Amino acid sequence: MKFFIDTANLAQIKEAQDLGVLDGVTTNPSLMAKEGISGEENVLAHYRAICEIVDGDVSAEVISTDFEGMVREGEALAALDEKIVVKIPMVKDGVKALKYFSDKGIKTNCTLIFSAGQALLAAKAGATYVSPFIGRLDDISTDGLALIESIRVIFDNYGFDTEILAASVRHPMHIIECAQIGADVMTGPLSAIEALLKHPLTDIGLAKFLADHAKANS
Ligand code: G3P
Repeated sequence: MKFFIDTANLAQIKEAQDLGVLDGVTTNPSLMAKEGISGEENVLAHYRAICEIVDGDVSAEVISTDFEGMVREGEALAALDEKIVVKIPMVKDGVKALKYFSDKGIKTNCTLIFSAGQALLAAKAGATYVSPFIGRLDDISTDGLALIESIRVIFDNYGFDTEILAASVRHPMHIIECAQIGADVMTGPLSAIEALLKHPLTDIGLAKFLADHAKANS
């Protein structure tokens, strides 16, 4: 299972990269705005900076919602670095853009997936990744993980190469359950990744080991 970090914060991306478990980065316009990044040149420069930190795929989202705009933006983003994955929203022109980029061998991530039908359509159009937003489904009392299960079955039935990128991950149990279901990738905040390493018995056990060692060596 690949681990992506869902942020545009360079310090957090570096921290996750330094941990040695990072396979990529996802961003979106809200995350870029949160870091105060605005203006086309600054946005492109920020993506270059992210690509310098990480080894794997970096999803960069288009703002346009029409086909021509998505193609123009996506081509400019893809030209930045071979790690760039063009992130495209699940709208009608987005499906056409997925097919366009797929035919050109440019990687894509279809975002804002909230149903199995949307995921199937994106896979048919040749998306490299589909991003079902599990946390936002949970937020409206709908089972986000059930959507991951459903997409997993459909993709396996037909051998789609499209990878399931579980997005809107909020906590460590989301990550564990996505891993059990067989999501190919999860993207979440640094806090959810770091929460995986915590267990009170580990802390208690380590404190006892160190105390016993200190006693024996005093
Ligand atoms: O990047 C897309 C997705 O991961 C957003 O997550 O927490 O804003 O629902 P969230």
